[in-house]
Amino acid sequence: MNSALQQHHPNYYGKALRPLMIMLLSIILSTAISTKASAQHHNVSAGYIPPSDPAVQQNLAEWQDLKFGLFMHWGTYSQWGIVESWSLCPEDEGWTQRRGEHAGNYVDYVKAYENLQTTFNPTDFNPEKWAEAAKQAGMKYVVFTTKHHDGFAMFDTKQNNYNITDTKTPFSTNPRANVTKEIFNAFRADNFKVGAYFSKPDWHTEYYWWPYFPPKDRNVNYDPLKYPERWQQFRDFTYNQIEELMTGYGKVDILWLDGGWVRPLASVDTTVDWQRTIKTEQDIDMPRIAQMARKNQPGILVVDRTVAGEFENYVTPEQTVPAQPLDIPWESCITMGNSWSYVPDDTYKPARDIVHTLIKIVSRGGNYLLNIGPGPHGDWDPVAYERLEAIGKWMALNGDGIYNTRPIAPYSSDAFYYTQSKDQKHSYVFSLSETEKVTVSNTYRFPIPENFPVKKVEILGEDRALKWKTVGNEIEVSIPKKVQQNQSFNHAITFKLSV
Ligand code: GLC
Repeated sequence: MNSALQQHHPNYYGKALRPLMIMLLSIILSTAISTKASAQHHNVSAGYIPPSDPAVQQNLAEWQDLKFGLFMHWGTYSQWGIVESWSLCPEDEGWTQRRGEHAGNYVDYVKAYENLQTTFNPTDFNPEKWAEAAKQAGMKYVVFTTKHHDGFAMFDTKQNNYNITDTKTPFSTNPRANVTKEIFNAFRADNFKVGAYFSKPDWHTEYYWWPYFPPKDRNVNYDPLKYPERWQQFRDFTYNQIEELMTGYGKVDILWLDGGWVRPLASVDTTVDWQRTIKTEQDIDMPRIAQMARKNQPGILVVDRTVAGEFENYVTPEQTVPAQPLDIPWESCITMGNSWSYVPDDTYKPARDIVHTLIKIVSRGGNYLLNIGPGPHGDWDPVAYERLEAIGKWMALNGDGIYNTRPIAPYSSDAFYYTQSKDQKHSYVFSLSETEKVTVSNTYRFPIPENFPVKKVEILGEDRALKWKTVGNEIEVSIPKKVQQNQSFNHAITFKLSV
């Protein structure tokens, strides 16, 4: 907008109008900046209410120590290798574009999309293989899309036939057809905490997109205040599906609710861009849902994304890492490829980037939920396994500086990032490498962690105390030749400081 205005400015407006234009431009710019700032603020901490239930407090504290989790977006859409659900949404955005032979006609497109149910047969499905790879990479929890916005349930719902165990779905005859259950069981067996991603909006059910009207955008397509019975049916439908997940799938630790536009109208924050599309009351009755969830799953974390308050036990910045530590529980969800869903030949981030992101997140007190999209046959791209293996090697050497840690000032300084152990006996200083292989220098100099009386310095993966001295507020570590020749360091090395 800014550059377009500047470009047209000399052509369209005479000299006399210039001061006015400059004034206007500066108003527009300053609004844009303050909108952005408050949007970010809203997304990360405004209105956070710490849980009062001791079981939830404990689960939250345990979860915060895990640091690294696996996110998976999987549904019938993976057969087309397209964005999850969004091509059904009649908003004209980059990520909603329809492709393929039915793209030109919305009604035909929806039919073809929903018909993907009749060909979904992911016979390579092997959740133990995923759990094993994720565990080896050092991941400690999993969040799986039990139902995305398109409404296709990846679990055995009794509320409608649009699901993976229905006879219309070829995979329904497979003994492992209830993939949500199988995934939860497999990861739980490897000691993962288990999270159910569930989309509140459902673009399949007639209770949300009533076929009487065409859908207009991502929101409910009728006025819930004008048609309260229909909306109540939607509430019950949602409650019942979540109840199925809370009762038939073993212990569930996190209920991760997406689709923040399904929310009480009064909670809408119009300084947040996407929330401005919300024009109607869409109160799903979270107190009733949360109470039922906690009755069946004592201590479960409820994450009603972006709806700040009692039912958002932690906040979930998406595809970003907050620039500073936050004083509330948080988790960045970030894709390993470019897309949440499986896209053939997607470009996966290098292991070095992923490790660096993990270090940054943990140094700011957050968790990292890294997404991999399973493909149409029920497995990941081989590159995803390679990445996890490389991350696992790094974690095996450096994990002490990651798990169960807390932020410590100065949090970061140039390419150094800090954490400390909960008992405050150790502080970890990560030195991020610009290359995959670390070239170990002969000296390192970095600020001393705040109020940390250093007595000993080591490098994780090297069994020896190092020579060091303080220089003002900094510490200078000398690295012996032998350590400099160590070829096994990748991505980042970790100094372990002890009191
Ligand atoms: C984005 C995507 C949505 C996805 C979510 C995961 O909001 O639009 O499809 O489920 O990210 O955080």
